[in-house]
Amino acid sequence: MRTPILAANWKMHKTLSEAVAFVEAFLPLVEGAEGVDVVLAPPASALDRVGQGLVGSSVKLAAQNVHPEEKGAFTGELSPGMLADLGCAYAIVGHSERRHLFGESDEFVARKAAALLEQDIRPIVCVGETLDEREAERTFEVIETQLTGSLEPVPAERATEVVVAYEPVWAIGTGRTATPELAQEVHAFIRERLAKRFGTDAASIRIQYGGSVKPDNVYDLMAQPDIDGALVGGASLEPESFSRIVRFERPEESA
Ligand code: PGA
Repeated sequence: MRTPILAANWKMHKTLSEAVAFVEAFLPLVEGAEGVDVVLAPPASALDRVGQGLVGSSVKLAAQNVHPEEKGAFTGELSPGMLADLGCAYAIVGHSERRHLFGESDEFVARKAAALLEQDIRPIVCVGETLDEREAERTFEVIETQLTGSLEPVPAERATEVVVAYEPVWAIGTGRTATPELAQEVHAFIRERLAKRFGTDAASIRIQYGGSVKPDNVYDLMAQPDIDGALVGGASLEPESFSRIVRFERPEESA
């Protein structure tokens, strides 16, 4: 029904040669991994070369960001058309680092998501509460606002092409993963909100969890009914580690 989607977000890591070396080491490790969508989001500088390295494999290329306009005076930005040119199948939008470090609003994220769909690139739309918001018991309110605002212009008939990533800000890069139950609670809430907006198609929309996902905790997260994948930062930087996440096998019982 929902194909699990495991995505590597390399953030601002890896030179060109490191990125190429990753692809060479990684592809043989995930050969034969069926029934999952595997996605690599390298920095923009490596999109072209990583994309070339993925030709002939089932691993898909993603951008970490995009600008909603097709062209113009936007120094430093890349348009959806440029990403399509590079062979991107997905692009991450509204990552918490973009929201918090670069001041991106829900409205801006929404324009990006809609512009990507026009180029047939699937947006991975990130939402997530900060620690302060969670402690103030505002998690659901924050998620609802981000979700509604960030998906506002998405046409209903394109809804199933969207991927939502729930990434609690307090779990990103901190080693502090949400428990599977806590993540599931928010994922179920997100699916319910998606159903309000998109009806029965909500059952086909994939919702990834992100925030300190590791080979050792991915199995329990993926076992939750509304967790359909993972968006992985730190643990996606090594081919061996990310290939284990792609398999999300039950960790060996340690003796
Ligand atoms: P992390 O990052 O896996 O290093 O916590 C996840 C993300 O920011 O997408």
